[in-house]
Amino acid sequence: MHALTLLVTALASVIGASPTPRQSSSYVGYLISTFSDATPQVQFHLSKGNSATSFSFLNKGKPVLASTVGTKGVRDIFLATNSARSEYYLLATDLDINVSGFSWDKATRQGSHSLVIWKSTDLVNWSGPSLRTVEDATAGMAWAPSAVWDDATSQYYLFWSSRLYAASDTKHTGTATLDRIRYATTKDFATFSEPKDYWAPTGTGLIDQEFQYLGSKGAYARFAKNESTSQIYQEITSDGLFGTWTRVGLVTSDTPREGPASFADNVTPGLYHLLLDDYTQYVPYQTTDIRTLAWKKSSTSGFPTGLKHGSVTPVTQKEYDALAAAYPA
Ligand SMILES: *[C@@H]1O[C@H](CO)[C@@H](O)[C@H](O)[C@H]1NC(C)=O
Ligand SMILES: *[C@@H]1O[C@H](CO)[C@@H](O)[C@H](O)[C@H]1NC(C)=O
Ligand SMILES: *[C@@H]1O[C@H](CO)[C@@H](O)[C@H](O)[C@H]1NC(C)=O
Repeated sequence: MHALTLLVTALASVIGASPTPRQSSSYVGYLISTFSDATPQVQFHLSKGNSATSFSFLNKGKPVLASTVGTKGVRDIFLATNSARSEYYLLATDLDINVSGFSWDKATRQGSHSLVIWKSTDLVNWSGPSLRTVEDATAGMAWAPSAVWDDATSQYYLFWSSRLYAASDTKHTGTATLDRIRYATTKDFATFSEPKDYWAPTGTGLIDQEFQYLGSKGAYARFAKNESTSQIYQEITSDGLFGTWTRVGLVTSDTPREGPASFADNVTPGLYHLLLDDYTQYVPYQTTDIRTLAWKKSSTSGFPTGLKHGSVTPVTQKEYDALAAAYPA
């Protein structure tokens, strides 16, 4: 044996001798970014240590960020970050459902084509809100953003839901397509590629898509709300976001459900969590076999009430400590 081979073998045996590594050993907790119907502003809940079901409402229960742009209301909060965790973006639907004269019909015909976006390098000091146009003139709205960082191209894939009107129907008074998932790429959430269809369903509309990385290259689950049944479907792929997706089935027969927010457990390998909004608040579910569904309800003792469509981000010790210090519960 060469000396180098011996050295590598010796090192490997040292690593092999250590206990099975945890799923994400650098994470010490979870941050939920969300809003509430009563207060359509960004709110943070931080887990008690690595508990996936017990949380404290940061900033003494007050919002941490409020929109001063667009409709001035934000919903469907998504926190995006890169692998280096050198930047964070809060993305939100620009929609105030309390405005006088509000109707869902109008909100989907002449809704905002922009997302409200904040940027930070430390999760604590945030830029002011920017209104960033992502949709083109044919779209009725831009709802429920989610994003996935791609190391290979050093950019984010940004997804949202919309419906489209004929180019000649400039006032959007006619019949639109079904709701579908749209996407664009961006490096900075300031400029974006042309919006395109990502998942254009037939028969029933789809909104509220979110992905879950399954721990090996190209392996993801994705969740979306089927608008005809108001239930959450799960699909799975092993060849990337633009690969072949296989329908696994319904996450749960419970209805209505929307706004899926999924996350891998920080401690137990193979355990995944999924929050589903029942139109009043998030209900937590979990599974130890995500490839065959097997989702069941989690304990709700310690789980906060009134949380709406948001996202969950695993946090490092540095991130956890910075959040807890800047926004005490
Ligand atoms: C906004 O509407 C929701 C119901 O959709 C209600 O619970 C809430 O109190 C309203 N908020 C304000 C500020 O009017
Ligand atoms: C945020 O900004 C303040 C004031 O500039 C600074 O003291 C602090 O170190 C920054 N970062 C964090 C994580 O608090
Ligand atoms: C929505 O659910 C219905 C009823 O199960 C199903 O037939 C349809 O294919 C689903 N639509 C999509 C886009 O998944």
